[in-house]
Amino acid sequence: MTLIVTFNMRKGGTMKTTLVRNLADGCARAGLKTIVVDADSQHTLTMTMRVNPVDALTTLLTDDTVEWGDVLAEVPEEFSGAQREYFYLLPTFDGQQAIENQAGIPDRIYERFQELRGYADVVLVDTSPGAGNIHAGFYQVSDGIFLPCLCELESVLGLTATLNHLYTISQSAPVAPVMGIIPNHFDASEMVQQINHKYIVDHYAQYGRIFNPIRDKTIWRNASQNRQSVYRMTEHKSYNIRKEAKIAVAELQPILDTILKAVQA
Ligand SMILES: Nc1ncnc2c1ncn2[C@@H]1O[C@H](COP(=O)(O)OP(=O)(O)O)[C@@H](O)[C@H]1O
Ligand SMILES: [Mg+2]
Repeated sequence: MTLIVTFNMRKGGTMKTTLVRNLADGCARAGLKTIVVDADSQHTLTMTMRVNPVDALTTLLTDDTVEWGDVLAEVPEEFSGAQREYFYLLPTFDGQQAIENQAGIPDRIYERFQELRGYADVVLVDTSPGAGNIHAGFYQVSDGIFLPCLCELESVLGLTATLNHLYTISQSAPVAPVMGIIPNHFDASEMVQQINHKYIVDHYAQYGRIFNPIRDKTIWRNASQNRQSVYRMTEHKSYNIRKEAKIAVAELQPILDTILKAVQA
């Protein structure tokens, strides 16, 4: 089946884009037909995957004559390390802001992304830190939602806000279940983080599986600056970078396995 998953969190800087970018390469390397969607007008995902930022998402949602094949961009070999047979990105740009509050956008998202069913194996959607029309559309068309968060108060509040938004929308339309809450940037030597982590485990497990925290590591930033996936960084010439990249890949594995299993279901 085609699995559409959306990454969202009201708070910014919680690893949404980093997770989407790297998990996408994990899916593509596993042989899945993979489409990544940049639905954040800041277009970080587009840039860090080496694709030109253009208003493809906006065009797709506002122009009926446009087809998916017209707007998808191939993910360059330099990002993944090898040309994957079917690895595409739907870019975005500033023009997205103009449609963010437009009526009918959630329905348009629903219609257009349903068209992907049967074509791609997996569609990973990166959203902006917020809770608007665009998020509402993806909650409805997705099969699952991942909520990445930090082990700090602001993220805990962000989790509550995001879950509230989901609940509100679910009163008028079916929404996807939470496939996982992913604590990250974790530093076990910080007492406050440990306390917040425990709080998240104790209070949010009822909403979705809580994954083991992803540690705070420079490799994630390095890979983003190099505009390469952490998988590709495991082939780096420096031994230390290869080692760190392998740790990063291992930390992604349980999330990747969850996605792969859901695709096979
Ligand atoms: N586990 C991590 N450890 C250290 N830095 C990270 C980690 N995950 C992401 N980063 C860095 O944190 C910043 C924010 O991550 P990003 O994925 O862009 O967040 P979001 O998309 O949620 O706003 C980026 O500079 C990224 O490279
Ligand atoms: Mg982002």
